[in-house]
Amino acid sequence: MEQPLRVLTVIGARPQIIKAAAISHAVRTRFAGRITETLLHTGQHYDANMSQVFFDELGIPRADISLGVGSGAHGVQTARMIEGIENELRSGNHDLVLLYGDTNSTLAGAVAAAKLHVPVAHVEAGLRSFNKDMPEEINRILCDHCSTWLFCPTQTAVDNLRREGFALEATGPASIDRPHVVASGDVMYDNSMRFAELAEQRSSILDSLGLQPGGFILATVHRDHNTDDPVRITAIFTAMLDLHAHHGLPVVLPLHPRTRKMMATLLPAELDKAVRSSSGLHLVPPVGFLDMIALERGAQLVVTDSGGVQKEAYFFGKPVVVLRPETEWVELVERGQAVLADADQGRIAAAAAAFLRDGVPECPPIFGDGHAAEAVCMELLRFRP
Ligand code: UD1
Ligand code: UDP
Repeated sequence: MEQPLRVLTVIGARPQIIKAAAISHAVRTRFAGRITETLLHTGQHYDANMSQVFFDELGIPRADISLGVGSGAHGVQTARMIEGIENELRSGNHDLVLLYGDTNSTLAGAVAAAKLHVPVAHVEAGLRSFNKDMPEEINRILCDHCSTWLFCPTQTAVDNLRREGFALEATGPASIDRPHVVASGDVMYDNSMRFAELAEQRSSILDSLGLQPGGFILATVHRDHNTDDPVRITAIFTAMLDLHAHHGLPVVLPLHPRTRKMMATLLPAELDKAVRSSSGLHLVPPVGFLDMIALERGAQLVVTDSGGVQKEAYFFGKPVVVLRPETEWVELVERGQAVLADADQGRIAAAAAAFLRDGVPECPPIFGDGHAAEAVCMELLRFRP
C-alpha cells in the first residue's frame, strides 16, 4: 500500500488557526489514510482567546509541535520561527509544508522549507494589496515565490500571479521552479458555511451583550498601520463614537490585544475615557469564532480593517466599511458590498450612513463552492515525493 502523504502544517496567528480547521477536517475524514498532518504552532498568538479557543471550538487537534515564539520585533520573531521550523524539517518526517495567509508565521515557514528543498503549499496565494508598507504584502509575495503549489481563493488572485510571471498552464509535476497555480476557492468560505449552524446552536453572545439581531454595528481594528499611528487610531475611535451618536446603534468591538494596548498609549486621554465609558460602545475581549459568526450574522453593518472579517461580512450578506485605503479583496468593493473609507472620519460616517439607509447589494457566492479544502487535498495527492 502507498505511504500517506506527510504534511507539516504551520500555523501561529488567529486567522490561520481558523483557516487550518477546514483542511485539517478534510484530512481526518475524507483523506484519512492518504494524507497525514502534523501541526506546528509557532506561538505567534498565545492568549487563550487568540489561539486555544479555536482549537477547542473548531475541533482542531492539539498542536504536535509548539515553538512558543511569542511576540517580538519582526526580525526577532520571524528568525526564531525559522529556526524552530528548520529544526523540525531536518527530521525528514515531512513531504511538504502547508502554509496559510500572510503573517510572519507564513513567511518563516516558506523560508525554512524552501531553503531545505521541502515543497511549500500556500493557501490564500496570489492576494495583493499593492501596498508594500504592509508587512503582510511582503510576507505574501515572498511566500508565493517560495511555493510549489499556489492555492488561489479568487480569480483576481490567479490574475495577480499571472502578472508576476507565474505560468497558469501546469506542465509536468509541480516544483518550486515549476509551481502549480490552482483556483481552489476559499477555505474560509468552507469554514464559515460549516460552522454557521454550530454558531446558531452554541453562541449566546447577542443575548449576553443585550443585542437585537439587525440592531447593532460590529467593528474590529488591529492593523498596525491603524493602531500604531496616533492620528489614525484617534480618527477611528472618534468615528466609532460618532456612529453610535448618529444612528443610535450599539457598536460592538472585540478588541485585538494590540489595539487594547495602543489605545491606552496613543488615544488622547479625553477620547480614551469617552470610548471606555460610552454606553453605546461594547469593548469586549477577542471572541471565539462561533461568537464572531453570530455577531457577523446579527450585525446591520460591519466596520473593519481585517481581511477575514471583510470577507465573512460578504459571506453573510452584510455591508462593510473598510478602515484601509485599499484591500486585497477587490471583488467586494467592485460589487458594492464594501467601501474603502481608510481612517477618515468623514468617509467612515458617509459610507456607514449610506449602507444603513440603502442596505447592501446582493452577495452571490464568488469564493468557491464550499469544498476548497478538498480541492487542495486532491491537488496535493498528485504529488509523489
Ligand atoms: C498578526 C499578523 C497580521 C494578522 C494578525 C491577525 C504579522 C506581521 N501580522 O498581526 O497579518 O492580521 O496577526 O490577528 O504577522 N499580542 C498579545 N497576545 C497574543 C498575541 C499578540 O497580547 O496572543 C499583542 C502583543 O503585544 C504583540 C501584538 O499583539 O506585540 C501584535 O502581535 P503580532 O502577532 O506581532 O501581530 P498582530 O498585530 O497580531
Ligand atoms: N475573529 C474571531 N474573533 C475576534 C475577531 C476575529 O474569531 O474577536 C476571526 C474572524 O472571524 C476571522 C479571523 O478571526 O475569521 C480574522 O482574523 P484577524 O482579523 O485577526 O486577521 P486578518 O484576517 O486581518 O489577517
